[in-house]
Amino acid sequence: MAAPNKDFLNLNLQGSIPRLQDYSVSPTLGFMRENPLHKLPEYFDPWWKIVTRIPELVEDGTLRDEVTKMPFLDYRKLDGEPEWRLGHVVLSAITQTYVWVAGEKHIPLSLPKNLAVPYWEISKLLGITPSCCHFNSILENWMLVDPDGLMVVDNFKPIVNFVGGDDQVWFFMVNAQTEMDCGPALCGIVEAQQAVKGLDVNAYIAALEKVEKAVRRMKVSLSRMRERCRPWVFYNVIRPYFAGWDSPAFKAKGWKGLIYEGVSPDPLCYGGGSAAQSVTLPSLDAGLGIIHQPEEKNACNNFQKQMLPQHREFVKALADGPSIRHFATFSKNSRALRVYNACLQAVTDFRSYHIQIVTEYVIIPSHQKDINQNFSHQAALGTGGTGFMTFLKNMRSSITNAFCRIDEGTEIN
Ligand code: HEM
Repeated sequence: MAAPNKDFLNLNLQGSIPRLQDYSVSPTLGFMRENPLHKLPEYFDPWWKIVTRIPELVEDGTLRDEVTKMPFLDYRKLDGEPEWRLGHVVLSAITQTYVWVAGEKHIPLSLPKNLAVPYWEISKLLGITPSCCHFNSILENWMLVDPDGLMVVDNFKPIVNFVGGDDQVWFFMVNAQTEMDCGPALCGIVEAQQAVKGLDVNAYIAALEKVEKAVRRMKVSLSRMRERCRPWVFYNVIRPYFAGWDSPAFKAKGWKGLIYEGVSPDPLCYGGGSAAQSVTLPSLDAGLGIIHQPEEKNACNNFQKQMLPQHREFVKALADGPSIRHFATFSKNSRALRVYNACLQAVTDFRSYHIQIVTEYVIIPSHQKDINQNFSHQAALGTGGTGFMTFLKNMRSSITNAFCRIDEGTEIN
């Protein structure tokens, strides 16, 4: 028997195809949790009473006192994953506010035991870091305003709010909508891998058309950020509360992180929350065969540390599955090549638009005179503590290498 040619081997037909339900992914909502729990059991009311009054406690300067007075609750009374997840959302919001409420000059050396221990233990149960992340601020933190209303951003609200009023609500919920738009793209990626396995060109084209459409919708949703989230408020009021323990404020004091009392006598260092911990683009990159340069890949791996383990594994499973990229050229079908390239173009356009939004929401406000002096050190840096514009541009440029040439000899369909 003749050895299979290289193009055929590149298709990786032996690779298995992930099933969304095995990785905590919804076909309609993507990585957003379907129906997250909205309330913890009564025993946890002391947490609830603080988390639902964050803006007010920040305003009157009593948040740290209230947290210190909080009883030491037994996290084992949380019954199963949905309650652990909401517990994580609640403790993350209280922790971020506790740390940043007095500005970067007055950050605390440690988190009190009544907060640190349950936060740490719940994180262990979920397999996620005890830190603010996209998982606990966005993916698990949403509900419908009108439960019988439409699944649209105007009908979403966060379960738990930080500071920043309506601007913050809108910022969270536009993130949520952008995530949800990705659901059909994830279905499309998996269907395209199935089509590759079955060497079915028509199914491949239909699946990738779905991916392209969904990514284009993500961009439209992102553009709605401007409707009700003002860049000044985002930059000066909301964003500082997302910073982690690797930020300049900690470095300026020579601290290696934050001490979690009752957990470890040594400081622990975790990054802050960022949509860079969203699983959407890493999944599209993995599925479409977009390869990033080592430096960017390294940064992405760091962001992945703050994802839910199932989501991280989903990205890996897509990367190990049948190759959507190689099928485009293998098929020698111009429609297949075009739709594959169209998906890459949609991801490029999303990244370009995102860079525009980052310029409006971070770069421009950081140069304005009326900057919030309490947090000035964080101006030019990402919440992950890195210079980010180069990173974002490089993430976009690596897509260029994946585009396929529509060669002569390709069958015209
Ligand atoms: C006002 C809105 C937004 C701002 C200001 C913003 C800002 C940033 C910044 C500064 C970074 C660099 C990484 C860091 O250091 O944190 C980043 C990365 C990233 N953001 Fe956003 N972001 C916004 C909305 C979104 C939304 C809605 C999504 C969609 C899910 C998103 C997805 C990503 C991804 C995937 C990265 C990693 C880089 C890449 O894959 O190209 N961002 N963002």
